[in-house]
Amino acid sequence: MSVREIKIFPDKILRQEAREIENIDSSINDLARDMLETMYKAPGIGLAANQVGVDLRLIVVDVAPREDRGKNPIILVNPVIVEREGEIVWEEGCLSVPGMNAEVERNYRVLVKGFDLNEREVTIEGEELLAVVLQHEIDHLNGVLYFDQLSRLKKEFFLKSYRKYLREHVDTEKSKRIRV
Ligand code: CO
Repeated sequence: MSVREIKIFPDKILRQEAREIENIDSSINDLARDMLETMYKAPGIGLAANQVGVDLRLIVVDVAPREDRGKNPIILVNPVIVEREGEIVWEEGCLSVPGMNAEVERNYRVLVKGFDLNEREVTIEGEELLAVVLQHEIDHLNGVLYFDQLSRLKKEFFLKSYRKYLREHVDTEKSKRIRV
């Protein structure tokens, strides 16, 4: 097991639609374990495979309180939202967009279908925070980032602030690649 490098926006892989997983082999098992380790270390409550540079539809989620973290994480292969209802506004952040957060609107409840590492079909029902995280991570697999939902003006302001954050804390070259 190892912690993998988290790709930071505007890395191109974050804008690509990830590919379906056809075979849950040992490399997928290794990837899932590494993603969990990377998520816990960050720390974060969700991670999509393209955030660690792997173009495949796999997400990990753990929204348990701190003392229970790691006991029962969600690992979902090829997750699909099959039902959604209600609305909730949540202040989100993202490990691939460091230093930032913003309020976005999501569905309050979602039903997600996918497969576990034993190739069993699983259904996860999420409300509130769990629903928000599932939507956020599945968006990642489609190349969508949470700030895409902001109005044009808010998004412009968000990206300007992010560019400044990257320049000051992460990487000046990367900051130059952000177009507002
Ligand atoms: Co994210």
